[in-house]
Amino acid sequence: MKTAELIAWLQETDASRLEQLWAEADRVRHANVGDEVHLRGLIEISNYCIRRCAYCGLRVERTELARYRMTPDEVMDSARDAVKFGYGTVVLQAGEDPGWRADEIADLIRCIKCETPLAVTLSLGERTPDEWRLWRAAGADRYLLRFETSNRARYDLIHPVGPQGRPSDRIAMLRELRALDYEIGSGVMIGIPGQTYADLARDLETFRELNLDMIGVGPFIPHPDTPLGQAGHRQDACATTAEQPPANELMTFKMIALARLTCPRANIPSTTALATLNIKEGRELGLQRGANIVMPNVTPLKYRALYEIYPAKACIREDGAHCNFCLRGRLASIGRPVGKGQGSVRRDS
Ligand code: 5AD
Ligand code: FES
Repeated sequence: MKTAELIAWLQETDASRLEQLWAEADRVRHANVGDEVHLRGLIEISNYCIRRCAYCGLRVERTELARYRMTPDEVMDSARDAVKFGYGTVVLQAGEDPGWRADEIADLIRCIKCETPLAVTLSLGERTPDEWRLWRAAGADRYLLRFETSNRARYDLIHPVGPQGRPSDRIAMLRELRALDYEIGSGVMIGIPGQTYADLARDLETFRELNLDMIGVGPFIPHPDTPLGQAGHRQDACATTAEQPPANELMTFKMIALARLTCPRANIPSTTALATLNIKEGRELGLQRGANIVMPNVTPLKYRALYEIYPAKACIREDGAHCNFCLRGRLASIGRPVGKGQGSVRRDS
């Protein structure tokens, strides 16, 4: 699809045309990755973060947020829960937390790979190539690192420089992770203040250029205790751009559908942020408009509310067993079978 066509779809308002887009995305999903929905157990292993991303509730400047770091034993218990619930993968996710040392993460990966049949996905932010290499050697299978927006200037505006003292280049990092033989996942937020339709089209083209194995997109949800969540900032940013795509459910469905059409074989989750916007059926609609993955939370209940990336996040009052039961019911209601095994993509590169 050409850039102009992507932009036209992103701006489409005609209901019957949109029905065609959903149907085509669903057809391409069925033809390329089948009907199975793979479940990835998400373990939020720490909410410490040394970065200051302007949208994220875990940013270091939120000193009022109580911080936690799970112990390796606690993580292993959650991984065993994931096995018990029949999941094929665990995703170890955290803020950028040097308090989890690289060798401790490597030990944890070895433990999970030795004790369980799980695939291990890491979502631990911008670490060093040496650390990524160590974790890959320990048995990690996949790495998630969203580039958030392909618009470099906008990216730099909302990502203050990190400890290395220069703006991060996540696209280069994803290529590095690919070279280390990880399956790689990335994605963007939709409706970031100041973002344009052309930016979103470029995001989709970047997914294709990177030949991503996994693509996660979700709406930007303002967090009031972050710079981008403050009303003044939001108004200013929106006022300067007539082009601003809304951070809503419809725009998220369009991005999921178009991600499926541009990257037919990718694993695409129907995300928690989407469920947060429409708890009743957001996740199900995502799965019927291109997605084939869901990521049930298996983090111990006592930590969930503290992993407050954005407010009113779905599933913070439920425990792992509840989410497992809930999601299986939701999948059954739309006639989609639960995937067996690890649910890896078959690389076509
Ligand atoms: N709204 C929506 N998504 C967010 N993320 C972080 N903060 C927010 C927010 N306020 C997303 C980012 C990050 C992922 C873990 O969560 O895309 O990569
Ligand atoms: Fe957690 Fe439904 S998936 S409550």
